[in-house]
Amino acid sequence: MCGIVGYIGQPRRAEEIVDILSLLEYRGYDSAGISGINDDGCKIIKEVGSISNLRKKIPQQWSVTNAIAHTRWATHGASTLQNAHPHQSLDKKWIIVHNGIIENYKELCSRISACANISPNSRGGGTDTQILIEYIANKNIDTFEDFVKLFQDIKGSYAIICQNTQKPNELYIAKKNSPLYIASDKDNNIFLASDPVCFSKYTNVYKTFNDNEFAHIHDQKIFIVDSELRPIIKESSKLKDDFVEQTKLDYAHFMLKEIYEQPDALRRQVDFYKEQKILSKFNSDFLSRFNQIKLVGCGTAYHACMIGVKYIENILSIPASAEIASEFVYNTNVFEPKRTLYIFVSQSGETADTIKALNIQKEKGATCIALTNVAYSTLSQQADYCLPICAGPEVSVASTKAYTCQLSALYLFANALKTNEDLEKAYNNIVELSTKLFDFNIETADKIAEYISSKRDAVFIGKNFDFVTAREGALKIKEITYVNANACPSGELKHGYLAIVEEGTPLVVVATDEELNSKVFNSSSEAVARGAVEIVISTDDHECKYLIKLKKINPLLMPMLSIVPIQYIAYKASILKGINPDKPRNLAKSVTVE
Ligand code: M6R
Repeated sequence: MCGIVGYIGQPRRAEEIVDILSLLEYRGYDSAGISGINDDGCKIIKEVGSISNLRKKIPQQWSVTNAIAHTRWATHGASTLQNAHPHQSLDKKWIIVHNGIIENYKELCSRISACANISPNSRGGGTDTQILIEYIANKNIDTFEDFVKLFQDIKGSYAIICQNTQKPNELYIAKKNSPLYIASDKDNNIFLASDPVCFSKYTNVYKTFNDNEFAHIHDQKIFIVDSELRPIIKESSKLKDDFVEQTKLDYAHFMLKEIYEQPDALRRQVDFYKEQKILSKFNSDFLSRFNQIKLVGCGTAYHACMIGVKYIENILSIPASAEIASEFVYNTNVFEPKRTLYIFVSQSGETADTIKALNIQKEKGATCIALTNVAYSTLSQQADYCLPICAGPEVSVASTKAYTCQLSALYLFANALKTNEDLEKAYNNIVELSTKLFDFNIETADKIAEYISSKRDAVFIGKNFDFVTAREGALKIKEITYVNANACPSGELKHGYLAIVEEGTPLVVVATDEELNSKVFNSSSEAVARGAVEIVISTDDHECKYLIKLKKINPLLMPMLSIVPIQYIAYKASILKGINPDKPRNLAKSVTVE
């Protein structure tokens, strides 16, 4: 994962480079660092933990003309200062920031003499990036051409920016399977970053690096080539929004803000879809090209896929399935790939497993739709069609508004494939739904949060749509409260999960379907008989310790409503445990490694 930044131009306060880097913190926050060059030479500052820790170490007067910076999510090697980027070669000549994984780093290590000090097996335990920069140094590279040729030896994924301390006006860049963007402002200052939003304060026109492209920046000129050193002229793209300031406004955390933004986000999506006629190409003729639909994603996006399957099957009566991207890449036997429509669901559009699954299916000639929140993301660029979700930037690691917007996009999409009339009704349904999202008792939710936060385990159950909500709810609780929350279909409780239940175990029962509720409550009573404490989210009255009563609405829309109290409970429980819900331990917002 990780995020990288590069700068070369007029003297600029290093703090400003750190500000740019902080917009990439969603890609990891295990450690951060910057290497800056000015007339006094080169200085590297790093710190473990979030970028705010690094910021404290940056001298106010430090101004730089050439800088590279990095925020890390540890893949190889622990989250220590030693493993933080930028890394400098032992001969002090080369400095690197790298996003991705060098797969053959052990082999590279065995080929260089400096290996004893930095080997992955040495006490220092060199990371893949440390070995790569040593490899570069050992190859005695003199020219940019040598740099490009050296990458014939490198296997893996990388977005790399290198400084050469002997050439303070230059940067060397390589990119494969990790995003990288470049831009220059009106004063010809050059910016590089893993996300163009980072430099949108300076310019909203940028260029996208494709895989196996390399760049040399020297004397404020950008020279881009392919792996055969053939020059490449690149088209510029424009960021749609101006600088999207990531501020919490008056909210204590991004997660809380994002939970409360859901009504607006849903309405914005409807307006945008109508104005831009986003769904006009997805009609019954389009659908007739396919005999099945597969939805692919990870984590919360996978849960959106599970609901999407139910929309497609209920509304269109065509077979559909939800696939976990990291597993689906091993599924070689898709029946009639050319008659299969794929929808790849991803908030970031940068999730490595989802991108890999898309590439595999594209090679087989399948039609691929990317349903993402980031219009310029890799997934959006590689798919045949894009379905934007219009949630606006989601900063908190825990996905909330992106999930409800993914569900609404899938609901609108399925209706569009049926008839125009159905689509119009669906638009109205979403707008009406958006007014009801917070019609639940907040005091009860606060009490539930207090109860769950005091426990080690929790079990979530539900049936059909409600089972998916139970899964998504359990994931929210797990990732930001560290309570071991597990979800199962209520019918599965006595096939294993019941063993977890002991005196006081929270049992979150999602029961919003009149026809199924009695069955769900039958299962929950078996857990209550063994000491579980029922926390019920239901459209029905039910005698229990905690009840969040929801209004009865169209069952297809219910998953967008019933998840909101659980998101809120997870947030509150996280705060009670002293956890920062925006940056839970061990996780990152964007998962760009397999
Ligand atoms: O960016 P994506 O939607 O592809 O991310 C997929 C998952 O990593 C993500 O949904 C994750 O499960 C969330 N942190 C859950 O809240």
